[in-house]
Amino acid sequence: MLDESKYPNIRVFASPDELSEQSAKWIINIADKVLQQRGAFHMALSGGSTPKAIYRLLASDQLRNKVDWSKINIYFGDERTVPHSHPDSNFLMAREAMLSRLPIPENNIYPMDTQCDPVSDCAAEYENTLKECLPISDDGFGQFDLVLLGMGDDGHTASLFPQTEILDEYQRWVSAVYVAKLQAWRLSITYPMINHARHVAIIVAGENKAEKIQQIHLKKLNEFPIEKISPQGELVWFLDSSAAARLS
Ligand code: 6PG
Repeated sequence: MLDESKYPNIRVFASPDELSEQSAKWIINIADKVLQQRGAFHMALSGGSTPKAIYRLLASDQLRNKVDWSKINIYFGDERTVPHSHPDSNFLMAREAMLSRLPIPENNIYPMDTQCDPVSDCAAEYENTLKECLPISDDGFGQFDLVLLGMGDDGHTASLFPQTEILDEYQRWVSAVYVAKLQAWRLSITYPMINHARHVAIIVAGENKAEKIQQIHLKKLNEFPIEKISPQGELVWFLDSSAAARLS
C-alpha cells in the first residue's frame, strides 16, 4: 500500500476501471468548481488508451449530467499529423468516446488542424487559436484550467518525446515535432503551456509503466520528459495498482 504521506500528489486505485471512474469524478469536480468561480472551463485532452476510458465515462449516463457542458471548451494537448478521419487521430478518438455524446457547442471544440505543409504552420495556427480563446497568465502564457496527460513507457507525455527538440521549447505555446522513433511528425503544446495550467492530471495504468513510475517517483533522476511537468497549479498522478506496483 502506498504511503500517501510520502506521495501527496499520487492517487492509486485497485483497477483500471476504478482509476477511470475516480479520475472522471475528479475532472467533473474540478470543472464544476471552476465553472462556479469563472463561468467557463478550458480543458486540454490527451490521446492514448488510458484517457479514452475516462472520456467514455464522462459521457456516460452516470456522469454526463453532473456538469454544464455548454460552458466547457475542449482543446487538444497533442495530435498526430493524420486526417481527423484517421484511426490514429486523437480528435477522432475523443469525438467517438465523448464529444459526440455531450451537449458541447461545436464551436467550443478546438481540434488541431493537422494537414499543413509545412507542418509548423499547423502549430502556429493552433497557437493563434489558443491566444484567442484562453485566459492569459500574468507572465503572458495561455492558461488552461485543466490539462489531461498520459505517459508513454518511454516517459513521454503529450508529444514531448525523449531526444526531441520540443523539450527545449519554452517560448512557443504549440510546436511541430519530428519523432524519429515513430518516423512521424506530431503537434503538441509545450512545457510552458502545461506548466501554466491551473490543474494537471497525469493518468497512468498498466504494469508496463511500473518501472518508469518507480524511476520517476523514487529515483527522481529527472531524465524523462514527463519529469519536467511541474505546474504552478495542482498536479495529480492517477495510477492503477499495476503502474504503482514498484512504489510500495
Ligand atoms: C498520444 C498521447 C500520448 C499518450 C501516452 C499514453 O497522442 O499518444 O498524447 O502522450 O497519452 O502515449 O498512452 P496510453 O495511455 O495508451 O499508454
